[in-house]
Amino acid sequence: MPEDLTGETAIVTGSSSGIGAAIAKRYAAAGANVVTNSRSYDRAKSTADEIEADGGTAIAVEADVTDRDEMGDLIAAAVDEFGSVDVMVNNAGTTVIDSAMEMDPEDWQQVVDINLTGVFFGAQAAGTQMIEQETGGQIINVGSIFGEVGVQGRAPYNATKGGVHNLTRALAVELAEHDIGVNALAPGFIKTAMDEQTRESDEADEDAPDRSDWPYYGYEDQHIRNRVPLDRYGSVEEMANCALFLAAGDHYMTGEVLTADGGWLAFGWGSKGT
Ligand SMILES: NC(=O)c1ccc[n+]([C@@H]2O[C@H](COP(=O)([O-])OP(=O)(O)OC[C@H]3O[C@@H](n4cnc5c(N)ncnc54)[C@H](OP(=O)(O)O)[C@@H]3O)[C@@H](O)[C@H]2O)c1
Repeated sequence: MPEDLTGETAIVTGSSSGIGAAIAKRYAAAGANVVTNSRSYDRAKSTADEIEADGGTAIAVEADVTDRDEMGDLIAAAVDEFGSVDVMVNNAGTTVIDSAMEMDPEDWQQVVDINLTGVFFGAQAAGTQMIEQETGGQIINVGSIFGEVGVQGRAPYNATKGGVHNLTRALAVELAEHDIGVNALAPGFIKTAMDEQTRESDEADEDAPDRSDWPYYGYEDQHIRNRVPLDRYGSVEEMANCALFLAAGDHYMTGEVLTADGGWLAFGWGSKGT
C-alpha cells in the first residue's frame, strides 16, 4: 500500500493546532511513529495524547523553529525515541497583517524567522540526520498560495512563503543524491486559528487605518467563496491527505509545490460572485 508509513518516524513542526495537528494525526493513523512539536510542551502533548488515545504512537517535543540548536534537539529526541527520522514536515508558521510601508521591523523579522529561517533550520537538521542514516527520506515544507501572488498587507507572508517554495527547489536539487525528496505543500484557504487571526485583523486594532478596500485584509466567507472555484474553504484533513501522499514518497516528485486551494490560483477571473 503506497500510503503506509509503518515503522517510519515523522516529525511535524507546529503540530499543536490546525494543519500541523491534522498531519500528525493522519501520519499516525498511517502507522508512523510521530513527533509532535510546538513552542509549548503542553500544547504539543495534547496532540500526542489524541494520537495515543486513537491507538497511535507519538511523543511531544517543545522546540522553537527559529532556534537552530532546539531544532537539533528535536531531531535528537526523535532518534532517541524511535531510532530514525524518515519524514520531516516544516509546518510551523505565522503571519502579521500590516501595510508594507508602516510595518515594524520586528514584525517583519518575526515572520521571516518563523516562516523561512525556521523551515531552513528544520530541513537542515532533518536532512543531516537522513544523510547520516543513508535511508533517504521525505522533507515537506508548508508554503502557501500567497507564496505565488502579492496580497495587500501580507508583504512578509508573501515574501517568506515564496521563499519557502524556492528553498524547496534548492534543497531538492542538493539532497537528491541522498534519495531525499523535498516538496512543498501550498494550501489555499483553510479554517484554522491563523485564518481567524487574519480575518479578525481589522477588529483587533482600533487604531488601524481603514483597509476595507483591500481585498482579503479582513475578509468574510463570501469573499473566499467568490474567488474559489470549488466554492468552499479547504479542511485540515484534506491538507493532511496531501501531506500523506508527499510523505509516502511513491511519486517521483521532488522540488515540487503541490497546491491544494480549490482552484484559487487557477482561477483567472476577479470574482465569480456579487
Ligand atoms: N490556514 C490557512 O488558510 C493556511 C493557508 C496557507 C498556508 N498555511 C500555512 O500552514 C501552516 C500551519 O498554519 P495553520 O493555519 O494550521 O495555523 P495555526 O493553527 O495557527 O498553527 C500554527 C502552528 O505553528 C506553531 N508555531 C508557530 N510559531 C512556532 C515556532 N516559532 N516554533 C514552533 N512552532 C511554532 C504553532 O504552535 P504554538 O503556538 O503552540 O507554538 C501552531 O502549532 C503555516 O505554515 C501556514 O502559513 C495556512
